[in-house]
Amino acid sequence: MEHFFCSVLVLLVSPRFLHSNSTSHTWPFGAIAMLIDNAYDPDVSAKQFWIDKTVVKDQDCLTFMDNGYGLDLRTMHKMLSFGFSDKTTVKGVQPIGIYGNGFKSGSMRLGKDAIVFSKSKSTSCVGMLSQTYLEKIGAEQIIVPIFSLTSAILSVREEDKASLQDILRYSPFTTQEELLTQLDVISPPWSTGKTGTRIIIWNLRRTSTGALEFDFEKDRYDIQIPSEVYDEMTDTFPQPQLSSHIPKSTYSLRAYCSILYLKPQMQIIIRGQKVKSQLVAKSLAWTRKDHYKPNFLVSFYHKFLVPDTC
Ligand SMILES: Nc1ncnc2c1ncn2[C@@H]1O[C@H](COP(=O)(O)OP(=O)(O)O)[C@@H](O)[C@H]1O
Ligand SMILES: [Mg+2]
Repeated sequence: MEHFFCSVLVLLVSPRFLHSNSTSHTWPFGAIAMLIDNAYDPDVSAKQFWIDKTVVKDQDCLTFMDNGYGLDLRTMHKMLSFGFSDKTTVKGVQPIGIYGNGFKSGSMRLGKDAIVFSKSKSTSCVGMLSQTYLEKIGAEQIIVPIFSLTSAILSVREEDKASLQDILRYSPFTTQEELLTQLDVISPPWSTGKTGTRIIIWNLRRTSTGALEFDFEKDRYDIQIPSEVYDEMTDTFPQPQLSSHIPKSTYSLRAYCSILYLKPQMQIIIRGQKVKSQLVAKSLAWTRKDHYKPNFLVSFYHKFLVPDTC
């Protein structure tokens, strides 16, 4: 009798995939939209979303924070992994993200490294998705240090201690107090909401000349794409130009966010100032409603549901 030796190999994801996966976003605002959508989706249901620029240890960073339901250790592990999405429609609100990839592709498009702080009803947790960390430790597959803490004091479980040490060593936050301060930002004393998520991205993407791809100076209350960066991007990814006019939403994050949702249900605040939503459908001179009905449903209906009268 012949013997068959069979081994099942688990697929590994190389750290290089983090960069290649992020190249699906040619435009950086699309990457930011991935993070906004996550807070907007019904499983998080945030009422407010803050976008800011900050400097940590001389490094420019982007911060994204929501006051949604937050994450625990298990859900943060899914957030930092690929392909996990359990979203369903809640009270008629359909989820935008369904493939379980938006956070990874979006955050890694904006910078090389991201740290996530989150507070849910039951716990607080911290996780890091960092290309620099993976390069420095010579990782051959993606590893995400995550730890949770149950009290305000940073007492972590024995099995989480290595994750805490790696985060302290490779993130811009080098002491436990600095990590706790970031968690405290999620639920300030004046706020009624106590849950939410704060994402900080550092090692922000630079252009071929070494400049940051965002301009934080031109408008104190906006995040803009400078014209030279804009030109470089349109050279690489030519846009169909119908006229020489460039819509403001192409280079101003504030303008982009103002038209992001047809029915805005979450307040977006950029650098301390609220974004005024524009209801695009209402600003058009002529509107027409087009109801989309997929063809396969029509043929399915006729084939199987309409009684045969012949
Ligand atoms: N801001 C957030 N607050 C709470 N949970 C989040 C947040 N962002 C992402 N998640 C969780 O992480 C999962 C993965 O996110 P993502 O990679 O964008 O994929 P998708 O949105 O397609 O599910 C989401 O399904 C959600 O459960
Ligand atoms: Mg998503």
